[in-house]
Amino acid sequence: LADQSISEDELLADPVEKVMAVGGTPHPAIAAPADLFQPERVNSGGLDLDDAVILEETVAAITTPVNVNGDARVSPAEAVTAALAAFPEWSSTPVEMRAECLDRLAEYLEENRSQLMAIAVQEARKTIPDALSEVREAVDFCRYYAARARIDLVPVELPGPTGERNVLRHEGRGVWIAIAPWNFPLAIFIGQVVAALVAGNTVVAKPAPQTPAIGRFAVALAHKAGVPKGALQIVTGAGDVGAALTADTRIAGVVFTGSVPTAKAIARNLLADDDRPLVPLIAETGGLNAMIVDSTALSEQVVRDVVVSGFQSAGQRCSALRLLLLQEDIAEHTLEMLRGAMDTLNMGDPADPATDIGPVIDQAAYDSLMAYRASVKDRILHEIPVPKNGLFVPPTVIRLDDISDLNREYFGPLVHVATWKAGTLEATVAKMNAKGFGLTMGLHSRIAGSSAMVEQLARVGNLYINRSMIGAVVGSQPFGGEGLSGTGPKAGGPHYLYRFCAERTTSTDT
Ligand code: SER
Repeated sequence: LADQSISEDELLADPVEKVMAVGGTPHPAIAAPADLFQPERVNSGGLDLDDAVILEETVAAITTPVNVNGDARVSPAEAVTAALAAFPEWSSTPVEMRAECLDRLAEYLEENRSQLMAIAVQEARKTIPDALSEVREAVDFCRYYAARARIDLVPVELPGPTGERNVLRHEGRGVWIAIAPWNFPLAIFIGQVVAALVAGNTVVAKPAPQTPAIGRFAVALAHKAGVPKGALQIVTGAGDVGAALTADTRIAGVVFTGSVPTAKAIARNLLADDDRPLVPLIAETGGLNAMIVDSTALSEQVVRDVVVSGFQSAGQRCSALRLLLLQEDIAEHTLEMLRGAMDTLNMGDPADPATDIGPVIDQAAYDSLMAYRASVKDRILHEIPVPKNGLFVPPTVIRLDDISDLNREYFGPLVHVATWKAGTLEATVAKMNAKGFGLTMGLHSRIAGSSAMVEQLARVGNLYINRSMIGAVVGSQPFGGEGLSGTGPKAGGPHYLYRFCAERTTSTDT
């Protein structure tokens, strides 16, 4: 790049060709072919399922009891010891062989799709469409990170003066602790694990206490796919197990998805001992996600996207819509249509193919959501009836007098609504930014200038314009936020694997 005959503008317009032209080595990620990876594009939200075969197989599988023992077989310390012992061999296994394990795991996940869906329905109370998305996203993570590893993890020769050779390598750091949430007990679990593994690390994985079975099954498939047993350990249990794992001073990093308080507790653990090395924490936490709608939006589309973003998965997605911000002029009309759309939703048994929305994950979640609803009962604008027995929280629309009245995430099918006046779009985005979360935001507007302004101002990791705001697709919509919503890098994006690696440069005088 020292060649001044190529201007910066030319270089910026066509980095690959220009870097080649001056004799440099393009970073492999720049040279990646566009068709590197074709995601399954099913995880985009929407309540329809049109794959009858999957449905039939899954319903059959659900009737077969799942018998996966969720008990821990080893203590957290023993698991770390075993993962440490496996590190030298796994980290020196060629990247290609590690990537092949991920590709094989993707095949096994697909082969076992019905069983995995059945476990997700039973254990995580997922609806059948959500369970299908779950498996497909897990498959996507395997294939995507395998493809990225083949590009990102090869040594890169860097420029230097004659007589000097500089090589940058990305290598495993050691033992990673992967702590997954119950709301994506397969997709996020597998995504964390395979990213750490393919980067050359060994892993101790801890599934959420509510969803150990699907984690156990997935780990078994990973071992079958060629990941050595020592390189991937699973320890099940509650928060004390996670605390013990992250307090272990031998670990090299933590990848965590869950609540903000737990992420902060992990960060404190990692800093607690003056002698322990500084290790990375990748945290993906909650959101206080708004959808802003102006008077040019298409009402039918808005209503459809509110229903999907706020109520699908019983609102138990960190990306889910929490705060609907309607321009005053269209608020009544939009709410009227929303009431009608909500009334068509089917609440019920998640194993029933006709169900749109199932129960919430457990009694504790149910109790806290119902207590909150009771505390705001005077402000409930609409709710729909739910089956009598079971942990069904009614999808509910709750009025706010002001945007500033909501400052925390309620992890369920509760959508708050506030209005804003024409001419205050910029101030409205600023109010959302000020809340400190930064995960998703939606905008419905046909004004190009408004989209551009929100894109520039919104401090969120994922902005969705004129569409629903859940269901990020691996490789197309890298997912993750900032501020209270997480540390980055974004899962399913081109920079994720690097954070799991030690970057090492060797400079040789030749
Ligand atoms: N990745 C999920 C989504 O986009 C949320 O965790 O909905």
